[in-house]
Amino acid sequence: MEGPPHTIDTNNINNSHDNYKDIVVTPWEVFGDLEDKMYTKLIEKFGTQAITHDLIEKFKKLIGEIHPLIKSQYFFSHRDLDWLLTKYENGDPFYLYTGRGPSGFVHLGHILPWLFTKYLQDKFGSKLLFQLTDDEKFLYNPGATRETISEYTSENILDIIAVGFNPNLTRIIIDTKHINYLYPLATEIAKKITFSTAKAVFGFTNTTNIGMIGFPPIQAAPCFLPSLIEKKPTPVLIPAAIDQDPYWRITRDIAAKLGFYKPAQIHSKFLPSLARISKMSSSRPETAIFTTDEPEIVEKKVLSSFTGGQATVSLQKKLGGNADICPVYGYLKYFFDNEKESLERYIRCKSGNLLCGECKSDLANNTKTFIIDFKHKREKAKDKVKDFMFDEKFSS
Ligand code: TRP
Repeated sequence: MEGPPHTIDTNNINNSHDNYKDIVVTPWEVFGDLEDKMYTKLIEKFGTQAITHDLIEKFKKLIGEIHPLIKSQYFFSHRDLDWLLTKYENGDPFYLYTGRGPSGFVHLGHILPWLFTKYLQDKFGSKLLFQLTDDEKFLYNPGATRETISEYTSENILDIIAVGFNPNLTRIIIDTKHINYLYPLATEIAKKITFSTAKAVFGFTNTTNIGMIGFPPIQAAPCFLPSLIEKKPTPVLIPAAIDQDPYWRITRDIAAKLGFYKPAQIHSKFLPSLARISKMSSSRPETAIFTTDEPEIVEKKVLSSFTGGQATVSLQKKLGGNADICPVYGYLKYFFDNEKESLERYIRCKSGNLLCGECKSDLANNTKTFIIDFKHKREKAKDKVKDFMFDEKFSS
C-alpha cells in the first residue's frame, strides 16, 4: 500500500511563536486580518503546502480546466493533493469528505466550499460523505440545547441537498444518529491519541468539558470509513476551510498505524463578514447572509455593508477605493463575477471610477436572485432527505 509521504503533522504547530501571535485559527475561533499575508503565515504555521503552478497544471490535465476558486486562490493550501491526483491518474478513485457543525442557519460562507465540493464530485465522479457534528456543537456552545441543535441539523440538511450533490454518490452522517457506523473506528483512533497531543493541537485546558476532549476521533472517523466501505485502503480528499486542519493533523499522524491512507486536504480561506471583522459568522447575524433570509433582508444587509471605499464621493474619485479589503468586492469576485468582470471592477475601483453604491447594488441584485433560487431548491430538498441518509447499503 503506497501511502502519502511520511511526515508528523502535529509537530508543526507552535501557537506561541511571535510571528503568529496576531492570528488565531482553531476549529472554534478565527481572529486575524484575513489578508493574503495571514494565509501565507498560516501555511507556515500549520505546515501545509501552497497550491503550486504544477499542481494546478495537474488538475488541468485531469479535468481539462481550472475552477475559478482555485484560480482566485480562495482554495490556497493543501496536504497531499498531488499524491491523491496521482493515485486517481493511476486508476484509484477517491472519496470526498466534508462537514458542517449545525450551530445555526447556513450562510454564504458555508455554501462556497460546498459548491466547490459538488464540482469535484461531478468532475471526478467521487462518492461524498457529509458529516453533521451535532454532538460537537451541543458540547461546545454553552447555551445550546439538544432541541435547538437538532432543529438546525434538519434545516442545514436542506441546504446541503439544495447545493445539488448527486444522491447516488452522497451520504449524510449525523453523528448522534449514525454513531454506530463511526464509533468502532473512533475508538481505534482515540486509543492512539494522547491527551498531551490533543491539548497541544486543540488548545484544550482543564476547564474544557470532557465531551469536547473526546470529540476529535468522531470527526476523524469518516476519513477512514471509505476504506471500510470499499474493503481496501481508499484515498480521501477533504475540501474545507483551513480552520478544520487541526482535526486532520491528528488523523493523519495515526492513519498508517491503523492501516489507512492519510486523508488529503484542500483548504479554503474564510469569507469575510459584511462588517469585515473576522470571518462571516452565525453569531453576528446582521453581517452574514443566510440562505433563510428573505430577499428584502438580504438587500438591507448588503446595502449597509462595510466597503473599501473612501468617506466621501470626491475622495473616492480622487484616491480610489481599496478593493483588497472590501467584502462587497470579495463576494462579487468569489460568487458572481467572472475573472474578467472581477478584474475590471478592481481596476475601476482602484482608479476612483467606481463608487461603492454600484457594487452594493450589483451584489444585492445577484444575491437576491441566488437566494430566491436556492430557497426553491431547499423546498424541493424536503422530499429527498431520506435518499441522502447514510446506511450500510452505501457501497459499490
Ligand atoms: N467541525 C466542523 C464544523 O464545525 C464540521 C465538520 C465535520 C467538517 N467534519 C468535517 C467540516 C469535515 C469540514 C470537513 O463546521
